[in-house]
Amino acid sequence: MTATALAPADQLTRDVLARLAEAPDPRIRETLGALVRHLHAFVREIAPTESEWAAAIDFLTRTGQICTDRRQEFILLSDTLGVSMLVDEINHGRGGATTETTVLGPFYVADPPDVEAGGDIARGLPGAPLFVEGFIYSQSGAPLAGAIIDVWQSDDQGRYDLQFDDPGQFFMRGRLRADDLGRFSFWSIMPRSYPIPTDGPAGALLAAAGRHAYRPAHVHFRISGAGHDDLITHVFVRGDQYLTSDVVFGVKDSLIADFEHRTRTISLVGAPIERAHRYLRYDFVLPTASAATVAAQ
Ligand code: BEZ
Ligand code: FE
Repeated sequence: MTATALAPADQLTRDVLARLAEAPDPRIRETLGALVRHLHAFVREIAPTESEWAAAIDFLTRTGQICTDRRQEFILLSDTLGVSMLVDEINHGRGGATTETTVLGPFYVADPPDVEAGGDIARGLPGAPLFVEGFIYSQSGAPLAGAIIDVWQSDDQGRYDLQFDDPGQFFMRGRLRADDLGRFSFWSIMPRSYPIPTDGPAGALLAAAGRHAYRPAHVHFRISGAGHDDLITHVFVRGDQYLTSDVVFGVKDSLIADFEHRTRTISLVGAPIERAHRYLRYDFVLPTASAATVAAQ
């Protein structure tokens, strides 16, 4: 009996897969195999003209060319296509025991300036004063003394310091440490909803899809503690008009909080605040270190 000949396109896919089958690392073998199968299926479905394929290559070329140490267009693409949140869900979809996670985004800076407890990360920028405080807990319920808390957010115009004309100065970000009872606090100003950068290929893609570019107002947190996995999340301002249409699909209900209007607060450390301010209380629960984290240490 003679085997039925494959169509040339199918034979090509099979040949490429066969060429990858000898990759020594099993994870690379699996990953490249899946990439080729899905990529070939995608191209078959779209059946691009040669000029359309050249435009796709040009799009990726421009995505790489616009990247600098202050601009990460590939993260924007991953975010706006929902891939970042898919990776987040695959890795952190743990169902409630710990604080939910969301995208890191392109505006995180490793090793931000230290801020003392109750210090002001706005450093004099104008805006509505915001006092933020809470506890950091371990998954076991114990306070996580000494946890490191990196915070960053937009100013009241919806811009991050990395987007300021005068680079090199840190605003609206800092590193705090939880005290012996796991408490942290800082002053800031109210963040504002903002469009992600639209002057590059990710913005062109949004425009072509007829999508807006906005994120609802939020404060970012990256929290680490000994024996725990890092927690990367934000807290969103309840009532923001973009909560249901975040351009990067990053909103989860448990991360939406009241930023209360207050004229008086007694803080968790017992200090009185006697002026008009917005107030956010949010407690975070970090996951116990996963096997992967322990193995990497
Ligand atoms: C952010 O929240 O900073 C952000 C996240 C994803 C894309 C752009 C900005
Ligand atoms: Fe942000």
